[in-house]
Amino acid sequence: MSSAQRKDDHVRLAIEQHHAHSGRNQFDDVTFVHHALAGIDRPDVSLGTTFAGIEWQVPIYINAMTGGSEKTGIINRDLAIAAREAGVPIASGSMNAYLKDPSCAGTFRVLRDENPDGFVMANINATTTVDNAQRAIDLIEANALQIHINTAQETPMPEGDRSFASWVSQIEKIAAAVDVPVIVKEVGNGLSRQTVLLLGELGVQAADVSGRGGTDFARIENGRRELADYAFLHGWGQSTAACLLDAQDVPLPLLASGGVRHPLDVVRALALGARAVGSSAGFLRTLLDDGVDALVVKLTTWLDQLAALQTMLGARTPADLTRCDLLLHGELRDFCADRGIDTRRLAQRSSSLKPLHQTTGSTR
Ligand code: FNR
Repeated sequence: MSSAQRKDDHVRLAIEQHHAHSGRNQFDDVTFVHHALAGIDRPDVSLGTTFAGIEWQVPIYINAMTGGSEKTGIINRDLAIAAREAGVPIASGSMNAYLKDPSCAGTFRVLRDENPDGFVMANINATTTVDNAQRAIDLIEANALQIHINTAQETPMPEGDRSFASWVSQIEKIAAAVDVPVIVKEVGNGLSRQTVLLLGELGVQAADVSGRGGTDFARIENGRRELADYAFLHGWGQSTAACLLDAQDVPLPLLASGGVRHPLDVVRALALGARAVGSSAGFLRTLLDDGVDALVVKLTTWLDQLAALQTMLGARTPADLTRCDLLLHGELRDFCADRGIDTRRLAQRSSSLKPLHQTTGSTR
């Protein structure tokens, strides 16, 4: 099967999956302790965030998806227009298609042509050579480079890689050589604490945990197999919320994606320590079902509602959300117990950092 056909399959199957499976996920196991007098004034709220020397005006981004075929070039054009109109950073899909066949360059380059001043990320796999990593960056004048790691996708993929041992050293080489910040990302199965710690040692600048709860590539690739005989891999990995909890206090800045359904999930992920939060299939579905204008409306609505939630929660910046008291429930709480994560500290952290009531000396 051609690479272009595979890219078209991914879009079709991801959207079918989103229609069929976008219900409950482990973000629902994260709730905020409601402090009814914590609110602040909306003009005092900023959506700006920083990580790895990067400054974004907004804490959300359109995460990696596509490119490499005629149809996906049109999708990239429309995603780029929406990113530009809403002022939201955007990532390319894997550019290995371009590195193998430069005739599809335009399907990626359109991300920069339509969005000349935006923050655009290139995306490659972990077997890419240093020279090719730089070629991908150069094609779209990328501001950062994403390297995806996806063993649970490759394994059931009929034409997938079966050799993963070189990934660690290749990531290290690329991170040392390229001239933009490097973000290593999963594709929907999550990064463990151990993996995030290792990525820090390899010299990358940030990690996108991209956990379970949204697009499931094991399911997508199994659906592309004649016998669909890897169904037992559906749902592999850790949820996005679990990954963020697992890597609390790891020095490497974390981004979050995977199953982010609405602004409350964004706020949950930010409160769990993510510097910014990405979504893929949900934005793609809006684009394909309702068009580019609808995606612009969705992105701007999310930004407006994020500011509203920060106002209610008393968070002047997205980083301030990490002081909000969080309660964890269900399987997420079991995960924390087994991984040695202190859930009581999360539930009581506002009191140590920001007194909710000051004693003024006056009594009634
Ligand atoms: C993806 N994703 C992805 N990731 C990546 O690093 N390189 C890629 O080429 C692709 N391709 C791709 C195609 C399509 C159609 C989708 C929906 C997704 C994975 C994506 O960036 C993200 O990690 C996961 O999709 C989880 O996020 P959502 O979809 O649950 O919001």
